[in-house]
Amino acid sequence: MLSFKNLIDIDDLSLKDIEIILENADTFSDVLERDLKKVPALRGKTVLTMFFEPSTRTRNSFELAAKRLGADTVSFAAATSSLRKGEFIIDTIKTMQSMVVDLIIIRHSDSGAVNFISKYIETPIINAGDGKHQHPTQALLDLYTIKKTFGSFKNLKAAIVGDILNSRVARSNIILFNKVGIETTIVTSSILKPENFDYFNVKTATNIEEVLPFVDIIYMLRMQFERQDRKYYPSIKEYNSFLSIDEKRFSLMKENAIIMHPGPVNRGIEISEGLMNIKDESKIKINQQVRNGLAIRMALIYLMCLKQD
Ligand code: CP
Repeated sequence: MLSFKNLIDIDDLSLKDIEIILENADTFSDVLERDLKKVPALRGKTVLTMFFEPSTRTRNSFELAAKRLGADTVSFAAATSSLRKGEFIIDTIKTMQSMVVDLIIIRHSDSGAVNFISKYIETPIINAGDGKHQHPTQALLDLYTIKKTFGSFKNLKAAIVGDILNSRVARSNIILFNKVGIETTIVTSSILKPENFDYFNVKTATNIEEVLPFVDIIYMLRMQFERQDRKYYPSIKEYNSFLSIDEKRFSLMKENAIIMHPGPVNRGIEISEGLMNIKDESKIKINQQVRNGLAIRMALIYLMCLKQD
């Protein structure tokens, strides 16, 4: 049984919760390997997705995960809703809650918006990414991918590279990696590093080449152009010289090290076009992250709906 009602940030999770979620993800991963990729575990339950910001991976993954569990899904379309007529967001969400749903998945472009909404809503909520704050299910699917690759978290070292300042993925992953004992270094420039970063208790570097020979996980962050209120880098060439990975740098990695990225990738910025075209899934885990996301979200939806019974 999970210890939390809402999953808003990684701090909501105990080590026991993480263990339960990963174990259940293993079970659902097996279901996804079958010819018939569906179980009736949540027949009669309803999962509502409310995305106020664009998404490909997270939204489709949550909706497919709910369907694979036999639940009904409702997908709220913000752009064509009564929000356009000026309805207060809390009234909109209360309206949807009144249709008797069992779980609400919310993405919003404002940091803290999901926590704010949770104060007004009785139905359990999962944060599917809020502004620069957190993206807890991304961190969990990343951790699951690491576990499936290395078997355990013991003695692992990770580097999280790029736009830390504007990244909710960085904040969630750093906290989760710390919780399970993965030693983490952030690789970024001073301008892309948040001011209060000592709180996160991680090592820092300024050039990806400093860490490539030593870490097991190179986690490339997306340049979050949509959250940048100004130009943070003089040119892509300048960014590439310190914070990107290409075929040449790929050869500097440890033998069993892997590259991860939450997607969507800005080709030629974080990862070179050539490296993106390499189909070595033992080294480049981007597609496996997406696949594992489905199992992690099935586990979370199942456990959070079950908890209410
Ligand atoms: N990684 C991630 O959150 O991707 P989407 O924005 O496509 O959901």
